[in-house]
Amino acid sequence: MPSMQTNVAPEFRKTTETFKAAAKTLPQRYFISPEIFAEEQESIFSKQWVLVGHQSQIPQGGDYLTTEVAGESLIIVRDKPGAIHGFYNLCRHRGSRLIENRHGQSTAIQCPYHAWTYSLDGRLIAAPHMDEVSGFDKTDYSLHAVNLALWEGFIFLNLADSPAPLAEWFKPLAGKFAPWNLSALRSAKRIEYDVRANWKLIFENYSECYHCGGVHPELSKISPYDSAENDLTEGLFLGGFMRVAKGKSLTMSGNACALAMEQFGEEDFRHVFYYSIFPNMLLSLHPDYVMVHQLLPQSPERTLILCDWFFHPEAFEQRDFDPDDAIEFWDMVNRQDWHVCELSQQGIASRAYEPGPYSARESIPAAWDREYLRFMK
Ligand code: FES
Ligand SMILES: [Fe+2]
Repeated sequence: MPSMQTNVAPEFRKTTETFKAAAKTLPQRYFISPEIFAEEQESIFSKQWVLVGHQSQIPQGGDYLTTEVAGESLIIVRDKPGAIHGFYNLCRHRGSRLIENRHGQSTAIQCPYHAWTYSLDGRLIAAPHMDEVSGFDKTDYSLHAVNLALWEGFIFLNLADSPAPLAEWFKPLAGKFAPWNLSALRSAKRIEYDVRANWKLIFENYSECYHCGGVHPELSKISPYDSAENDLTEGLFLGGFMRVAKGKSLTMSGNACALAMEQFGEEDFRHVFYYSIFPNMLLSLHPDYVMVHQLLPQSPERTLILCDWFFHPEAFEQRDFDPDDAIEFWDMVNRQDWHVCELSQQGIASRAYEPGPYSARESIPAAWDREYLRFMK
């Protein structure tokens, strides 16, 4: 028996298909419910590879930083030979938090309570008076390690027992960012934003430029909002690129502010690439710098965002190096985005909110929502 559709006029069929395909925004509970937030922490942030920094942020042996993933405080430290390790931030004696600073330098990790001391690779090397305890063996009390791996110089942690290797996770992106030589870059600046909005609103906002004409007049002058094209349209890595007017860059002055990355073709200079990497990384690649947002969800209504501006290491030596030109520009655009994300959070919390239809220019937020929902019960 022929299907109903065979008899439908092509124009009408197109409308029907468009209608069927129209995705809607997520229901209210996904943005305000503490139960859903707890489930995300458990099903996503406790099981997936999560961005926590870049190797250039701990360049020397003994450099460390601390971070939080799924409510766990974690230490990331470089040992003297140069290897990077990740540990849960608690002592094997009576559980005290070991390090309170966000970052620092140390030759060893010493507990502030009874001075048990651990080497930078996590071995317990001193435990005062514990030789008086029969059967006590220091080798039984190394710090609890957490899975840590690098991708293009970025440090990722995974709290799962035996996660798939990070390299496998990133296989679909192999070679894609080679011209930027991401592992060699250095951060010139970090700005921390405390945003009163759910972390998913930040992803959804980043993933479309439907809002750019109205929200980002300065950005739209340099990079037309309707020039967006997507090349990763399904899956955990999503995004595409936008045109930049010839000879321009996304800076306050509109000019390039640093040495361009190596190995660029002529065409690459005219594009800015925007990719979201599930679940907490936004990667924005410009010809002369790379901006990375790291999202740290704090509650259903609050997200801490760490934004870093990375440059080619040799750019720092150049006389006309002017990172502030890029930093000020994106700081302005970031704040414009956070403002509308906060407005969304406020409106979504209303009893009158109901999911609204995504436009054709919001296919990436819709795809992101679909991926997100695959992780939820
Ligand atoms: S709790 Fe760390 S040494 Fe006692
Ligand atoms: Fe925006």
